[in-house]
Amino acid sequence: MKKITIAIDGFSSTGKSTLAKQLAQKLQYVYVDSGAMYRAVALYTLQQNLIQDTILDTESLIKHLPSIKVTFQYNESLKASEIYLNGENVNTEIRSMEVSNAVSRVATVPEVRQQLVALQQQMGVHKGIVMDGRDIGTVVFPDAELKLFMKASAHTRAQRRYDELIGSGTDVTFKAVLENITSRDHLDSTREDSPLFKAADAIEIDNSNLSLDEQFDKVLALVQSKL
Ligand code: DC
Repeated sequence: MKKITIAIDGFSSTGKSTLAKQLAQKLQYVYVDSGAMYRAVALYTLQQNLIQDTILDTESLIKHLPSIKVTFQYNESLKASEIYLNGENVNTEIRSMEVSNAVSRVATVPEVRQQLVALQQQMGVHKGIVMDGRDIGTVVFPDAELKLFMKASAHTRAQRRYDELIGSGTDVTFKAVLENITSRDHLDSTREDSPLFKAADAIEIDNSNLSLDEQFDKVLALVQSKL
């Protein structure tokens, strides 16, 4: 059976990971959440006090890069991969607001991107992979057979992330979540290295008014047309 590479890009909380997981499960492909990798580096940066009030000590972070090991390990009982930072499971920690507020800044550092992009490309050498992020169809896998670009209004996205955070017991306001989303949109799409934009050959999916099932059926038909 022919295996392809599926690249999913888009602004934060557009449902990229939900769709990517559904596809990976259906096709028996590997799923990689590239945002989790940037989040793990952001967590390291916070742990080492290399960032304070969004002011990042870029020089020190670059020096630390060789000692930052980001890996994934499959958790049989969760039926999902979990992310590890230097051998420690940080799957929950990387979703905190603190990490969310630091990550876009960390992701602007070209040396960080080079290290993570190399890892991501390695994971995709055998195809049969679904990866989501901001530069997957443009930088990581420019030759991906299927590229999707996900969109939804900022309000819809903030509501989704807010519900997720409240559901996991995080004390947060809707206003803080909306502010985080709009400021990340801005940073992600205006940074110099690998800004978020829709690849010319990517297919746009606006899911503001699509149910998960409707979206999945639509995308599955696209996948089938490539196989
Ligand atoms: O998908 P996410 O919200 O977990 O991503 C976290 C941050 O990581 C996001 O603000 C931008 C950055 N990111 C990136 O620059 N490139 C990627 N391929 C994935 C994420």
